[in-house]
This record gives sequence, C-alpha cells and structure tokens, in this order.
Amino acid sequence: MTESIFTYGAPALKFGDGASDELGFDLAQLGARRALVITDPGVAATGLPQRIADQMARYGVEAAVFDGVRVEPTDASMQAAVDWARAHGPWDAFVAVGGGSSIDTAKAVDLLLTNPGELLDYVNAPVGGGRAPTSPLHPLVAVPTTTGTGSESTTVCVMDVLAQRVKSGISHVRLRPTLAVVDPLLTISQPPGVTAAAGMDVLCHALESYTARPYSTGPRKQPEQRVPYCGSNPISDAWSERALALLAGSFRQAVRHGDDLTARREMALAATFAGLGFGNAGVHVPHANAYPIAGQVRDFHPADYPAGEAMVPHGMAVALTAPEAFRFTFPAAPERHLRAASLLAPPAEPAGDPAGHLPAVLVDLMRDIGIPDGVGAVGFGSADVDDLVAGSLKQQRLLATAPREVGADDLAGIFTRSMSLY
Ligand SMILES: NC(=O)c1ccc[n+]([C@@H]2O[C@H](COP(=O)([O-])OP(=O)(O)OC[C@H]3O[C@@H](n4cnc5c(N)ncnc54)[C@H](O)[C@@H]3O)[C@@H](O)[C@H]2O)c1
Repeated sequence: MTESIFTYGAPALKFGDGASDELGFDLAQLGARRALVITDPGVAATGLPQRIADQMARYGVEAAVFDGVRVEPTDASMQAAVDWARAHGPWDAFVAVGGGSSIDTAKAVDLLLTNPGELLDYVNAPVGGGRAPTSPLHPLVAVPTTTGTGSESTTVCVMDVLAQRVKSGISHVRLRPTLAVVDPLLTISQPPGVTAAAGMDVLCHALESYTARPYSTGPRKQPEQRVPYCGSNPISDAWSERALALLAGSFRQAVRHGDDLTARREMALAATFAGLGFGNAGVHVPHANAYPIAGQVRDFHPADYPAGEAMVPHGMAVALTAPEAFRFTFPAAPERHLRAASLLAPPAEPAGDPAGHLPAVLVDLMRDIGIPDGVGAVGFGSADVDDLVAGSLKQQRLLATAPREVGADDLAGIFTRSMSLY
C-alpha cells in the first residue's frame, strides 16, 4: 500500500515588532523560575540578549546569559556550552537569542541537561549513535535574530563533528522549541553578508521543500516509522509558496538597505513561513551538498562573519550548488520548478530551455546580493569533487527527500557545473 498520510508540527509562535519585549511574561506562563539565555559573542555585542535577560526579572524569572556559542557550532563548542550550563545550573528553561548557531546550541544544552548520555550518542547514525531522548526537555524559547534557518520551528540541531570532519545533527521531535518569538526589530542589525547568506537558506528551504519528493510516494509507514520530514505536502506547499513571494519582494532590498523595516518584516515572515514548511517536508540536494562544502573548507573568510576561522556560512554553502541541483531535479516536477521561478521573478517568462529558468533566476539573485561565484570561488577545484561527492553521499536522510534518485555521478556533475555560476 502506498503512503496516504502526512504530518505537520509547529511550535507556538509569537510574531511581530516588539514580540521579544513580552518574553518575561511568556516564560513565567511556562512556569520558569530560572532561565539561561544562550547566544553568541556577535549577538551579545548588540546588547539584545542582556536586555531580554533583564526584562525577565520583572516577571520573577531569574536569568543569566551564556555568550560563548560558536558561529557554525561544533560538537566541541556544544559540549562547552553544556558544561557551562551544568556548572551554573540548575535551569528550568532556556532562551536562545541569535541565529541558527545559538538556537541549535540551546537545543543541545536542553537535551543533555534533561537526558542521560553524551552528545554523540544522540547524533544521527552512522556518525553518532542515533539515540532518542526518553525524557521531556525543559521549555526552550527560540528568539531568532537572523532571517534564516527556521531552527526556531524545527526538530533539528546541526553541528560539525570534528573528529569525523563531517557536519551532522540530531533530529527528534522533542527538540522542537516550545515557543518561537520572531521579532523583526531584532533582525535589523544583521550585516549585509549575514542577511544574504541566511536569506539564501530561507530561499532554499522554500524551494527544496516545494520540490521535495511528495509524501504520497513510497510504501505506507508504520506509526513508529514516521519522521518529522515527510516530503512535500499541501500544508508545506502553502508555506513555501508564500515564502517565495515574500522573498521576491524583499530579499534584495533587505541586503542593500538593512534599515528598511518593511523589507526586514517580510524577510522575517518569509523565514518563518519557510521554516514551517521545510520543518515538515524536508530539504534535499542543495542542503546535502552544503554539508561537505562547509565541512571541507580550507581558507575562505566571508565578509561580516567572525574573522579568524575559515568558514563557508551555512546559507552560502547551500546556495552554491542550488542552481545546478534544481536543473537536475527539474524533470521530476517541471511545473513546480517553473511555478517557483515565476513566484521569485514574477514578470519573467521562461526563455529557452525550461529547465534553465529557475537556475537563471537564482544566479541573477545570487550575483545581486554578493553570494560568491560558485564552489570554485570559496576555494574548491575539480580535484576536490570526489571528496565533496563522498560528503554529500553521507547525507542519505536528505538525499532520500530528493524528487529523483541521485547517485555519485549525478552529484559529481552538479558540483562540477557549480564551480562557476555567473
Ligand atoms: N536547526 C535547523 O533547523 C537549522 C536549519 C538551517 C541551518 N542551521 C544551522 O544554523 C547555523 C547558521 O545560522 P544563521 O545563518 O542563522 O546564522 P548564525 O547564528 O551562524 O549567525 C551568523 C552571524 O551573524 C551574527 N548575527 C546574528 N544575528 C545578528 C544580528 N541581529 N545583528 C548582528 N549580528 C548578528 C552572529 O553573531 C554571527 O556572527 C548553521 O550552523 C546551520 O547549520 C540549523
């Protein structure tokens, strides 16, 4: 029997200008008495996390700030956050203030302060033990300051596992935050480079979940086999389409004029919508390819990110092979790829090969917002293709969501054609 069921999950959501001013009240409603605010040094420097912590006291919630999150976290940086939280606890709630790096680190802290075992026990197999938490976690309130990952809605926590030189994660429904507080006013201080990379993450969430293998393909699952990412479905489609339309209107403007509040609000809404979509449908080839691009970086230092360490930020890594990935997936669902392109670039009519329309729209946008010109521009060459392909193939959970079977040769073609895009 083929599958006839899809699932949908989401956190409680509070959205809008000033929403973060009500956090003390919200935490008190959740029964919190002693909360840990988790953030990274860049976000801490804006003063937002301390302001949020101070405001909690008015509602009788004692709060402390941990500002040691690593941007693009590793298992070691998450462990350091867990150790700090253990040493300064007990806590009965966590508040993540920041981008995906802070929210994911807070998910790991919450997991390990409420459940037994080590971080790697819970990381997806085969990288980790694939263990499932058995006890409920403490309430986690996620307050995104980037317009990007959607981590405030998802059941996932992503990290670099240093010993294995691979990005992986923990995926379990208990990791979904209790409450997402999305306050567009917190996103205005994002620098242009962060707005561009994080925004490409939003765009790819919407595009990948919209073009994901439909939930109704494949054999019927048993209840215990159901996973949060169930393939494209009518509910995630609606969120993805709305996210694409918002991005069409505001993405370039938010990068170029970060003080444009309308553009920031629309980007925050787009990130929220795309998070609610992909958090249930799933993502596929561009995200699978992003893991080795980020994990195997040698010497790339993006503008507007912490200096010192080489990195390809997540959203940038996702974007670099997206045009060619969507050229590859086009035959599986031509009408969806064309509809997505027309939502992103409304007046444009497909010219020439229809499979090239969405890639062309993406490349135009990426050039306009300063995303590097392909995988070659972040330091890789043709000699790296085999290692990049091997890294993508480790992300079978994501590749299984692609609308077409994708093998090593397909991935090698996508990476090779993505060396230069413009
Ligand atoms: N859990 C999920 O579902 C999920 C989904 C996608 C990505 N991720 C992960 O999220 C991480 C990326 O997160 P991100 O793109 O949101 O960025 P981020 O958290 O890595 O932050 C990027 C940079 O922007 C700065 N910054 C953030 N907000 C700011 C603000 N308002 N003002 C000034 N500076 C600000 C930070 O200090 C940092 O230097 C990656 O580790 C990625 O793997 C997780």
